[in-house]
Amino acid sequence: MALPIAVLVSGSGSNLQALIDRVESGALEARIALVLSNKPDSYGLKRARSHGIPALCIPHTEYADRLEFDRAMIRAIREAGAETVVLAGFMRMLSAEFLKAFAGRVLNIHPALLPSFPGVRGQRDAADYGVTLAGCTVHFVDELMDHGEVVIQAAVPAYPDDDGDSLAERILALEHRILPQAVQWLAQGRIQVKGRKVHVTPTGIQRAVPPANALVNPPLEQGF
Ligand code: GAR
Repeated sequence: MALPIAVLVSGSGSNLQALIDRVESGALEARIALVLSNKPDSYGLKRARSHGIPALCIPHTEYADRLEFDRAMIRAIREAGAETVVLAGFMRMLSAEFLKAFAGRVLNIHPALLPSFPGVRGQRDAADYGVTLAGCTVHFVDELMDHGEVVIQAAVPAYPDDDGDSLAERILALEHRILPQAVQWLAQGRIQVKGRKVHVTPTGIQRAVPPANALVNPPLEQGF
């Protein structure tokens, strides 16, 4: 049975597109039951609708506070029948109530090698700092910013002439691979969390050809 997921976006939704593509290819055993955006002009909403996926805007500006906004999202996600929530460029912190509603089932993609460079401008902060390795992280979400247990990370080189945009583009290509992979592990029930450590149950599934000039761990599997 495909895992029913809700994907939360705020912007372009290219990570959402990567999830849609893997669902449509059959690699990702999930069903995108709902795409939710807090921004009416999010291109992610258009992407969803053009693939026949229910898409809804809940503007945070229309709610008195974070809790009321989160409650509206909880209702919409439950009504859509989703059990797992994937943050794909969703630029809002979630309340304890939201996280309790989907306990242990909220994943986020962050464009930096956590715990370095949390926040909303991870790629630019890494470029400005002058790192020579940058990357992205899929992690479980807790009440702290970009803090929950790490599921998978990908590292890419960063060069002295990189700026936030050039680095972001290199990182984004890897985001599009590790996010669907992490969701697939969750869909397969292969993720166990012990303290801060995430264990992915091994199977006989063949590994994907590793991306050139990047290090991904745990390794990507076929289809991702
Ligand atoms: C992605 O790079 C994602 O990692 C980042 O926003 C971008 C959304 O792109 N998220 C964060 O910075 C969260 N702190 P997309 O809308 O094209 O998927």
